[in-house]
Parts: sequence; structure tokens; C-alpha cells
Amino acid sequence: MNRHIYLIFALIFFGCLPVLTYSQAVWTVSSADAAKKNPVPANDKSVNSGKSLYNAQCKSCHGDPGKGNGLPLVPKPQDPTSDIIQKNSDGALLYKISNGRGAMPRFKDVIKDEDKWNIINYIRSLKKGKTASSETSVPDAIIQSFEGKVELAFRFVDSTKTIIVKAVNPKEGVLIPVPGLGITVFAKRYFRDLKLNADALITNADGEVEVDFPGSLPGDSIGNVLLLARVTEGVSDSVAVSAQIGWGKPFVYINPRSERSLWNSTWMAPWWLLLSYFGVVIGVWGTIFYIVLEVGKLKKIGSQQAS
Ligand code: HEC
Repeated sequence: MNRHIYLIFALIFFGCLPVLTYSQAVWTVSSADAAKKNPVPANDKSVNSGKSLYNAQCKSCHGDPGKGNGLPLVPKPQDPTSDIIQKNSDGALLYKISNGRGAMPRFKDVIKDEDKWNIINYIRSLKKGKTASSETSVPDAIIQSFEGKVELAFRFVDSTKTIIVKAVNPKEGVLIPVPGLGITVFAKRYFRDLKLNADALITNADGEVEVDFPGSLPGDSIGNVLLLARVTEGVSDSVAVSAQIGWGKPFVYINPRSERSLWNSTWMAPWWLLLSYFGVVIGVWGTIFYIVLEVGKLKKIGSQQAS
């Protein structure tokens, strides 16, 4: 019996050993694979499609870029902005994404090569200090000044419904970007404004943060949502800016009191309830009235017979 227990422990120990040593190993890629050049130019189109692929296929483990909120696995799925990922050559990234290792899935046949390169272009666009190169269209922009300290501006990129908030410091007519501010974007709601990013996002070297607009967010009857960006870390005064955009799902408010229902006032109660109620009331009173009538008749008959 005892011997069995030792055997089990020994099996568990030696069984785990390769996993333990393996997980700590540096992930090396052959020089031929590492030298592979990226054939896809890193333009807006490629970066945008890489971004949506990343969000769909990688974000669940690697987290939001720059936030280090990946899954707590061992080894950890690194943040795409981290040096560990960025110091890979493009070819090495392709190899690792294609082949996977341990908990990192093998995407060789799941994502076609061109899309892998798009993801790599996106990952490169996240490199610290580099601008997000996805500012393609600027449908709305509102700048609100706050006494020369910090200004926030909204910019919207429609293809992927991205909100970009830029923090600048106006100095002698020039707007100087302010990096390192914590910004939170809210959608205005009736009771408590809805945060679109859980933790404050830190502005990059261009003073910008990017927030994805949640596709399912309801707006007003024509889909307008009032957005609010606030500096939540970095300055003591509250700095905020708001802008409206028609990206929400149109939502028509139906007053529950305008429909017949049990909780509604008497005349808005359901028909079946009104019918059965008045049916019973009329029935009972009708019966009583009928009885009184019959008793009246009896009295009449009695007086006729007496005479
Ligand atoms: C199921 C979780 C999971 C998903 C999904 C996932 N990864 Fe990973 N990834 C990991 C883990 C865990 C590691 C660390 C593996 C290791 O070092 O053994 C990793 C490592 C990596 C590395 C290597 C980093 C290094 O050590 O150089 C790259 C690059 C990478 N992932 C990119 C991606 C991309 C791109 C996607 C989406 C197409 C993706 N991953 C999807 C879990 C995941």
C-alpha cells in the first residue's frame, strides 16, 4: 500500500518535471524562420484587420494591449506591447503564432498567413511610443478647453468603431501632446455613467488612448450615444470632454405603463381580468336583484290570494 503511494508521488513528480523545465525554457526559433521578412505592408488596412483578428483570437489570453491583463497562466501569455514579444523578429512571431507551444495554440491552419502578417503589423503598431496608425477618418471632433491646462479631444475611427481621446497642452498656440495621463471613457446613462474601459488607459507619446466602442451598446431612438472622456489619473482638476456619436443600437423606450398589464392602473388592467371581474360583479348583483324581484312577486301573489 505504502509503496503504491510512493510510486504515485514519484510518477506525479517525474511527470511534472518536463513540464516545469519546458515552461521556463526560452522559446527559440531557427534562424531561417526568424529571418523571414513580412511581405504585407503595414498600412492602415492591414493594421486594422490585424487588430480585429487580435481581438477575436488572441485577446482572450494575451489581454488588452498595454494593460498586462492577460490570463494568469504559467508561462504567462505576454502583453503584446511587452519587450518579450516585441523583441521577436517578424519571422519569429510568425513561427510562434503558427506553431504554438504549451497553452499557446497552434494557429498554422486556423489563421491564413496573410492574416498572421496583419496581426504582426498590428502588434508592431503597438510598440511603445509608436502612434496607432489607424486614424483614417475623422467624422466628428470636439475640442473643449480647460483653462490652459489639459485639453481633451475625441476622434472617431468608423471602420472599427474606435474612440480615440487625445490629451494636449496648449502652449503659445501649439498643442503639445500629454503622455502618461490616465483616461477613462464613459457612455452617459441615466443613473451611473457606463465605463467603456475598466481601468484608466494611459496616454501614449502622442497623448492618445484608444477605446473600442462596444457594438451592442444601446443608444437613443436613432442610436446616438453621449460619450464622456475624463482624465482620471495625472491631473488634480477634473478634465472632461463629451461628444455624441450615432454608433449605438437604436433603442425605443416603451413605457411599461402604456400597455395593459397586471401591475397597471384599473383601466389599463388586462381585458380578461376586467371581463372576469365585471362578470362576477354583474352576476352577483344580478342574482341578488333577481331574488328581490322574485320575493316582490311572491308578496304580490300573497296579497292577491288574501283578497
Ligand atoms: C489559449 C491562450 C492563448 C491564445 C488564444 C493565444 N496565446 Fe499566444 N501565448 C499563450 C501562452 C500561454 C504563451 C506563452 C507560451 C510559452 O512561452 O510557452 C503565448 C506566447 C505567445 C507568443 C510568444 C512570446 C515569446 O515568448 O516570444 C506570441 C508571439 C503569441 N503568443 C502571440 C499570440 C497571438 C498573435 C495570438 C492570436 C492569434 C495568440 N498568441 C493567442 C497563450 C495564448
